[in-house]
Amino acid sequence: MKILVTGGAGQLGHALGAIETHHKIIALDRTEFDLCDANIMSRVLDSVCPDIVINTAAWTDVDGAETHPKQAEEINFYGTKNLSQLCNKNRIGLVHISTDYVFDGASSKIWREDDTPIPQTLYGKTKLSGEQAISQTHPNHAIIRTSWVFGPHGRNFLKTMLRLAKTNTAISVVNDQIGCPTYAPHLAQALILIAEKLLDGKECGVLHLSGSTNTSWAGFAEEIFKQSAKLGGPSAAINPIPTSQFPTPAKRPANSVLDCSLAKSRFGICLPDFKTGIEQCLQLLPDLR
Ligand SMILES: NC(=O)c1ccc[n+]([C@@H]2O[C@H](COP(=O)([O-])OP(=O)(O)OC[C@H]3O[C@@H](n4cnc5c(N)ncnc54)[C@H](OP(=O)(O)O)[C@@H]3O)[C@@H](O)[C@H]2O)c1
Repeated sequence: MKILVTGGAGQLGHALGAIETHHKIIALDRTEFDLCDANIMSRVLDSVCPDIVINTAAWTDVDGAETHPKQAEEINFYGTKNLSQLCNKNRIGLVHISTDYVFDGASSKIWREDDTPIPQTLYGKTKLSGEQAISQTHPNHAIIRTSWVFGPHGRNFLKTMLRLAKTNTAISVVNDQIGCPTYAPHLAQALILIAEKLLDGKECGVLHLSGSTNTSWAGFAEEIFKQSAKLGGPSAAINPIPTSQFPTPAKRPANSVLDCSLAKSRFGICLPDFKTGIEQCLQLLPDLR
């Protein structure tokens, strides 16, 4: 199977490009495959002829989307729609990555694929529009919603915490937002399995895939520091604070825990615990430890 990965310079795109597999994976960054340039996308798809495209490319600056809604929409809606139409025209299966932020997170339930999405942020709204554009333009798709992605490559919460702990003895972290941290290389492995299912003609639709345990940002930070300290790396005390003491331009869902049981029952796919992800990630970050 030949897989073209978009957003190759991002956290997840990089993890996909680094996977050891018998499939051929071609991870392209924005300069090589720009979601905002349909002509370039068309030319590259014609020359690479992939069986599957995994679309990790997105506007991911959640707060920045509030002040740059047009740019976020350009990529997350129009770019995704154009890519979907091109994949449909060329009979290429499309695995698209979406987000827990399509939900409002206002209740304590864990979110199923058939729950009604009510995004509270411009980022979430543009990602939901992207999902809908795919559903309307390309039958052969999988839309994978994930959450709280971290890994050794790119910018993320784990790396921010380790950096802050080098110069701070205590760090204030929000403890009333709950979600499932997801290690990018774990998700990347699962996406290859989804790509195989799609190529086999299995109907995938929308699926939730995140790390198998939930926690708060404060709980996530605590585990990062516990494991980092064991390795002799930076660590800090956590000062748990409510969201009200850490206002952000985009309102995060209080509870964005995804129910991932459908991927398990249908395809036997279940991601490991985020603690295992932290362990593996720290091994790859000697400079930060
Ligand atoms: N990070 C999370 O916590 C999280 C949670 C839920 C869902 N997701 C979803 O998971 C996917 C991957 O996220 P990630 O964490 O890997 O994000 P990331 O590290 O920010 O990577 C996104 C990549 O998309 C690229 N990109 C932006 N605009 C583009 C365009 N017009 N054409 C082509 N590429 C473009 C960026 O390129 P530049 O480097 O040039 O900017 C970046 O490399 C996204 O769809 C995101 O919405 C992420």
